[in-house]
Amino acid sequence: MAKADRAAGTKGGGLPAETGQGWEYAPAPESRDVVSIKPEYGLFVAGEFRPAAGGSTFDTINPATEEPLARVAAASAADVDAAVAAAREAYEQVWAPMPGSERAKYLYRIARQLQERSREFAVLESLDNGKPIKESRDVDVPLAAAHFFYYAGWADKLEYAGFGPAPRPLGVAGQVIPWNFPLLMAAWKLAPALAAGNTCVLKPAETTPLTALLLAEVCEQAGLPPGVVNVVTGAGDTGATLVAHAGVDKVAFTGSTEVGKEIARAVAGTDKKLTLELGGKAANIVFDDAPVEQAVEGIVNGIFFNQGHVCCAGSRLLVQESVADHVVERLQRRLATLRLGDPLDKNTDIGAINSGQQLAKITELTKAGEAAGAQRWSPPCTLPERGYWFPPTIFTGVSQSHRIAREEIFGPVLSVLTFRTPDEAVTKANNTPYGLSAGIWTEKGSRILWMAQQLRAGVVWANTYNRFDPASPFGGYQESGFGREGGRHGLAAYLNV
Ligand code: NAI
Ligand code: MG
Repeated sequence: MAKADRAAGTKGGGLPAETGQGWEYAPAPESRDVVSIKPEYGLFVAGEFRPAAGGSTFDTINPATEEPLARVAAASAADVDAAVAAAREAYEQVWAPMPGSERAKYLYRIARQLQERSREFAVLESLDNGKPIKESRDVDVPLAAAHFFYYAGWADKLEYAGFGPAPRPLGVAGQVIPWNFPLLMAAWKLAPALAAGNTCVLKPAETTPLTALLLAEVCEQAGLPPGVVNVVTGAGDTGATLVAHAGVDKVAFTGSTEVGKEIARAVAGTDKKLTLELGGKAANIVFDDAPVEQAVEGIVNGIFFNQGHVCCAGSRLLVQESVADHVVERLQRRLATLRLGDPLDKNTDIGAINSGQQLAKITELTKAGEAAGAQRWSPPCTLPERGYWFPPTIFTGVSQSHRIAREEIFGPVLSVLTFRTPDEAVTKANNTPYGLSAGIWTEKGSRILWMAQQLRAGVVWANTYNRFDPASPFGGYQESGFGREGGRHGLAAYLNV
């Protein structure tokens, strides 16, 4: 196991002694025996697991150790074709004609299976993705189950959802998802689509295919009719083939803005419906009347949750100038207590970076931050020898033109900017090509309401951050994409409305 000693406290950061010194936790690893990973995984098409037509495969690794976990089928165009055909047949013969109350039963079963097998899912997610077990266990898996439960409840009530008396499904949905919340994004995509009567072809990310394949197994276990859910694993080319396929009626994508634009071009001029959930560069705004310790927790949760691999991460801290030094000092103390290391250790706060490619991107952008003249700080922190790791990092002295204030880093890196007045906070917060989320920390309710009106962001959190609920719509403005997922709004993306 990778060793991750944290020499918290006095070295390097020059921090006072109270920052956790003398508190060395014993490791508390979750057992990986609860999952049995097969050496090889096939595609899930028409209710069966099968190898790719051309026999092509790729490896998925554990990013905390670089150890290969399994070999996974790489779907070719012929496989995508077969999956879309299976989804079409299931749509016409079984799923769309089925009463909503019957569809709901399957969704409830999937939700319950997710709960019953939650430890297995959590461990597998942490192994394949690198995220800490306490997050996969307490956030990813329960929220994925909650999405299935929530949308199961809508399946027989679509005529009361406010979209007219008989809203119709769209047909076959082609869904491409990223690696940051592999299971949860699969649930966000599948649950509303299925509830509304669509069938699905899901393309997981190439670095994190395993929980989507386990979910396919759960679909089988739940007796879901063959072809209703198909999972085609592979890289970007498999995704591109799926979204361009003439048999797909609806495309849903979560991932980078760059690929989102490519997909928008591929879909333009067709009848396909499209929703895009792309990147972000959210402002987390702290006013001088905010309770500092609470705000610090919110800042930490905002940017260090899931190693910062979060589209709605609070990656820009906007702090009122009069309290900036104090807030940054408290934040530094708090960061010195974060534990980085083995994702399966229940004490771990910060796990592994998902891939070497993502680590290279974070490294490149942080170098650009230093070169631009911003001040970089990390707590003393020993990184494990193997695997992909990046210490929690904050940049102060950041100006709006710096790349680290404009571009999505998608890592545990916070850029700190200051403001003097609420107007200035709004202007700076909105000075971004993105618009997915924002956070406001203040004691004044009227200020929260005023700020929320001004901020061009799909989700605005007040005195909290990174809170998710299946009943609440989520989505962006501008280059963060369009369409909403979650809630009643999330149904509209899968209905002919
Ligand atoms: P990506 O956008 O390339 O990958 C997301 C998914 O799209 C994967 O399943 C991938 O196989 C698929 N894909 C890639 N090219 C495609 C194409 N031409 N057509 C259809 N599907 C395609 O993201 P990547 O390269 O993994 O990460 C790059 C950056 O994107 C990150 O550094 C981060 O800034 C951002 N990102 C944002 C996410 C978000 O949730 N907003 C999620 C993942 C990445
Ligand atoms: Mg992996």
